[in-house]
Amino acid sequence: MRYFVTTAIAYTNGDPHIGHAYEIILGDVIGRYHRTFNGNAFFLTGVDQHGQKVQQAAQKIGVAPYDFVRGLTDKFLALWNKLEIQKDGWAATTDPRHKRAVQKVLQELYDRGQLFKQRYSGYYSVRQEQFLTDKERNEQGEFGPEWGEVIFFEEENWYFPLAKHKEWLRNFVETHPHFVIPEFRRQELLNAIDRLSGDLCVSRPKERLSWGIEFPFDPDYVTFVWFDALLNYLTFAGYLAEPGSGLPDFGELWPCRGHIIGKDIMVPAHGIYWPIMLHAMQFSDVQMPRLVVHGWWNVEGHKMSKSLGNVIDPDTLADAYGPEALRYYLMRDVVTGHDADFSEERLVLRYNTDLANDLGNLINRTINMSQRYRKGVLAQRNSPVAGFAEHTSRALANYRDRFEQYMVNEAIEAAWDLVSRANALVEQSAPWHMAKDPGQKDQLDAVLYTLAETCRILALLVSPILPSAAERILSQLKASDFRGTAWGELPDGHVLGLPTPIFPRIEQINDY
Ligand code: ME8
Ligand code: MG
Repeated sequence: MRYFVTTAIAYTNGDPHIGHAYEIILGDVIGRYHRTFNGNAFFLTGVDQHGQKVQQAAQKIGVAPYDFVRGLTDKFLALWNKLEIQKDGWAATTDPRHKRAVQKVLQELYDRGQLFKQRYSGYYSVRQEQFLTDKERNEQGEFGPEWGEVIFFEEENWYFPLAKHKEWLRNFVETHPHFVIPEFRRQELLNAIDRLSGDLCVSRPKERLSWGIEFPFDPDYVTFVWFDALLNYLTFAGYLAEPGSGLPDFGELWPCRGHIIGKDIMVPAHGIYWPIMLHAMQFSDVQMPRLVVHGWWNVEGHKMSKSLGNVIDPDTLADAYGPEALRYYLMRDVVTGHDADFSEERLVLRYNTDLANDLGNLINRTINMSQRYRKGVLAQRNSPVAGFAEHTSRALANYRDRFEQYMVNEAIEAAWDLVSRANALVEQSAPWHMAKDPGQKDQLDAVLYTLAETCRILALLVSPILPSAAERILSQLKASDFRGTAWGELPDGHVLGLPTPIFPRIEQINDY
């Protein structure tokens, strides 16, 4: 089995923003963690290319939907490259392999009586793309301005019976505490399940929306975008794939260990539609995926929005400060599950404090002192400085435990406990004094070895978050071939390389 992790697939109706970058970096970091520390992973991410929003955005500038999404898809791909995202699969919903598999799912559900056609008439909000009921009327008995233009119309569509599976879902979520992390989101989901009623409309007549996947048994209709998009997690994992498709072996991946999504798409899409779809497709309870629900990045306490003009562009930030500063900040300055406030000052401060000062200086001093006092040659004869091997294994255990729970900020804190201890060791032992006293030769060797070995292990610990920096550190330590996390891999007589700053300070906040 490979550790299978995914993100949501971004709508290609506009440019990537900092929320998208955060989510994909989180997925990448989790994937890299499992590859390095547990031996394998499969990280799937992609783009959600169909639906009304995309059709409208393309129409607005007079471009065919396919050309429109191709341009935006290229932008997402270029940005993920720049941010060093290592993806094993790319879920683009216009991919013919996905379309074919979605049609097979629809056909199967239809054959088993899980889809039915029905005429519906009622009020419809054009802006929200949803039918309105009396619940949506305000105290005056009207549909308020938040619904935009409201029209009355009648339409025949395909429906999927949601409420029929309500008791199963409630019981499943109640008895599977790990279905959603963090726990407070599971409580929110349980409350939402209590309010669940009705069926889900899963089709759109082509005359109204043509940009979607055609119903195999009723070609006048296309698939509702969420029904299409959610299935990406199966289709790009190889579910119902044809031989030679190039898609992975489904049996090796499923069930997904973490769908990383934002809080806005837990209810109803991922918490209600998705498990019910899987259940209706005869997936058993042990075949259900897990949801990892993160918060939002806001700006000065406000939601980012085009109308407020406060949308943060990750591409500009990566160019200004480098991908590593951005990756580190987005993983360090937020608690998984909670909202965070984006601040360029904090990004620079975090980089300069944690990376340039704490970690960067530690590595620089360590190599420098070994070069100066021992020509870079390490001696492993003596045991390490008391307690260090134990500190390291404790930090590692803590780090792994936090990573298994997607609490990347806490995993980083566990690693930084070692950074602080190593910096304190430098201050307390003062190798520059020891070097002058021949009687302290063995102690100095022990300090220098302990510091170098700690730096090597730290490189491995930061590697999921800062993959290139980790390689730079290992290469300066001449330790690229020593990738175990157990204490003591650097052999007696190992020769370190020459130091150059790993994280040059950022001198100023850019003005643009
Ligand atoms: O919802 N901070 O796409 P999307 C953090 N296509 N995360 C944010 C955010 C912010 N400010 N804004 C958005 C969709 N996100 C669908 C998903 S999945 C089968 C289909 C997150 O482009 C958001 O919560 O609107 C979601 O997880 C992801 O970005 C894509 O949002
Ligand atoms: Mg959205």
